[in-house]
This record gives sequence, C-alpha cells and structure tokens, in this order.
Amino acid sequence: MEKELLRIKGLTIEFQGEISYPIIRNLEFSIRKGEKLSLVGESGCGKTITALSIMGLLPYGIKIKEGEILFHTPGEILPLHSFSPNSPEWLKIRGKEISMVFQEPSVSLNPTMTVGYQIAEPLIYLGCNRKDARDRALRIMEKVGLPHPADIYDRFPHELSGGMQQRVMLAMALILEPSLLIADEPTTALDVTIQAGILELIKELNEKIGMAFLLITHDLCVVNDVAEDMIVMYAGEILEQGKVQNLLKNPLQPYLKGLIASLPSLRKGRKRLKSMKGNVPQPWEKPEGCVFSPRCAYRMNICSRSPIWKEVENGHWVRCWLYE
Ligand SMILES: Nc1ncnc2c1ncn2[C@@H]1O[C@H](COP(=O)(O)OP(=O)(O)OP(=O)(O)O)[C@@H](O)[C@H]1O
Ligand SMILES: [Mg+2]
Repeated sequence: MEKELLRIKGLTIEFQGEISYPIIRNLEFSIRKGEKLSLVGESGCGKTITALSIMGLLPYGIKIKEGEILFHTPGEILPLHSFSPNSPEWLKIRGKEISMVFQEPSVSLNPTMTVGYQIAEPLIYLGCNRKDARDRALRIMEKVGLPHPADIYDRFPHELSGGMQQRVMLAMALILEPSLLIADEPTTALDVTIQAGILELIKELNEKIGMAFLLITHDLCVVNDVAEDMIVMYAGEILEQGKVQNLLKNPLQPYLKGLIASLPSLRKGRKRLKSMKGNVPQPWEKPEGCVFSPRCAYRMNICSRSPIWKEVENGHWVRCWLYE
C-alpha cells in the first residue's frame, strides 16, 4: 500500500456571516501517493468547497472552523489548514505539490497575460530560462490537445473557447508535475473526444510519474473509466466510500443506489430514466440525523439520529442505519 499524501481530519467548514452555518461537516478522508480517487455527488453537496479548502482558496466568508488538512512532503507534514491564503508557505505547495483545475476556467485565467506565458511562468519563476520554459510549455500544450500550440501560445484567454481555456488550465496545472492533481469537473465543457483525451492524459501522468488525483465529477461513467477509489458526498458529508468497482456493483447507501439507478444503462433498454425525487438541502436547512433521510425511500424512525460511519465489507464504508 502506497504512503499517505494528504489527510483530512474532522474538517468542518462554515459560512460565516450574519447567520453562520456549516457547509462541510466533520469530513475525514485521505489520499495515498499515486491514488486514483474520485469525489461524486449532486450539485451543491460541497465538492468544490472541499477542493478549494485543500488549496487554501476558500471564497470570502467561508472558513475552516475545525479540523486539519495535512500534506506529506518528504521532509515534513505540512498543516495546510493553518496557512493563511497568501502565506508564502503556499509557494512551495501550489503548482509544485498540489495543482487544481478549476470548474470555471474563465475566472481563473489572467485576462492580461498570454496563455503561453501563464503556462510557462512557474518554470521561469523557478529559474528555467525562457526558451526552455517555452519549449516545455509547448510540449504540454500539445499533450492536453491544444491545436497549433505555437500560435495559441501568444493568444489571450478571451480569444479561446471555453473548452480550450479548460485545456490551458490543465496545462498550467500539470507543467510542474505535481504529486496531487485536483480536477474539478475538468471535462464538462468539452466534447466527447477531447474529454477522453484529457482523461487519458491524467491517467498517463498517474502511471508515469505517480501523480495522485482527486477527480470531482457528477459522471459515474467517468468515475468507472478513470478512478479506482471513490467518495460519495451529500449535503457536506461523506455517505459512502470504497473501491469504485464495489460501490458501483453493490451500492449500500440509498443515495448511491439512487444515483446509479438514474444512469442510462444499456441493460435497462429503453426504460425511462429514473431521476431522484427532491433536492440537496441548502446548508442552512440540513435535516437532523441522516442528511439523506428526507429523500430516502427506506427511511426509518431511527434515521432522525446520525448514523455512524461503518465498514460493512472490506474497505467499503457507509453511513446508514440499514447496516447497523
Ligand atoms: N461563495 C460562497 N458563498 C456562500 N455559499 C457558498 C459559496 N460557494 C458555495 N457555497 C455553498 O456551499 C455549498 C457547496 O457548494 P459547492 O460549490 O462546493 O458544491 P458542488 O458540490 O461543487 O456543486 P456543483 O456540482 O454544482 O459544482 C452550496 O450550498 C453552496 O451554495
Ligand atoms: Mg463544484
């Protein structure tokens, strides 16, 4: 078993304003070196906030209330949760150790700099000469599927389509070969062939340089193709976790059962797609007890109390009273 790279312990993240409420509650998980992990869940369940907390980039008003985010480097364990957003400590981490591809490329690219410079900049910053940095940037641009890299190098972000901006972001994230890539819906803006190419590239870097990834997605087919382990999140909590194959074949939590049942499947022929009733609750109106219980078809009286986190089969964990 590979060594641990990142560990999140008892992480609670709050919105702090006139009223305060938790967005993420008591989150626990770890990522091993080279692990292929995916984080899935419906819109609004807290996937992006979890990712931003690891990068020290939480939006204004949202803060870590409790818990730890620990990142292992060869010499030391870094307490990421304790670094302020602009702390110089991040220079050693962002890009070099942990990179992120954001869900919204247009807000994360600098509109005043050419895309080529934005990709090559970290290398120049680290002392690489401009010509070598440019050559390496062109190579990675080609790998992420940007056509005619030498032309695109001198363009500005607004001159590119959303899909191309997404690929520029990926090139920026990968140029320093980080030990962990966090990819937040990296392929939603892309067409199917480009999507497949990007996922291939992420897999290739995983195999070649042992880069671990945390792939955030709604798409269970992508999870099945790319990831080995999986975390299912709902309303700011983890409800199920384990190997992708086990979870997709034998989902335990009614929430994951529902997500899988709503997928189009060849076996089901032309039957209508089932969609799950109800919506993810807003963070300020979370139910007591099991957060999924108001939508759950198997709801019992005891579900008004919080279920414990339990290993039901080897490595397959669930939070649900059905398995007590
Ligand atoms: N800047 C913000 N200020 C206040 N609340 C926020 C902010 N950003 C997110 N939230 C709230 O935090 C919760 C989790 O949001 P998050 O963006 O992490 O969801 P997500 O799982 O990434 O959803 P999606 O799949 O749509 O990207 C949501 O209820 C959202 O309304
Ligand atoms: Mg998101």
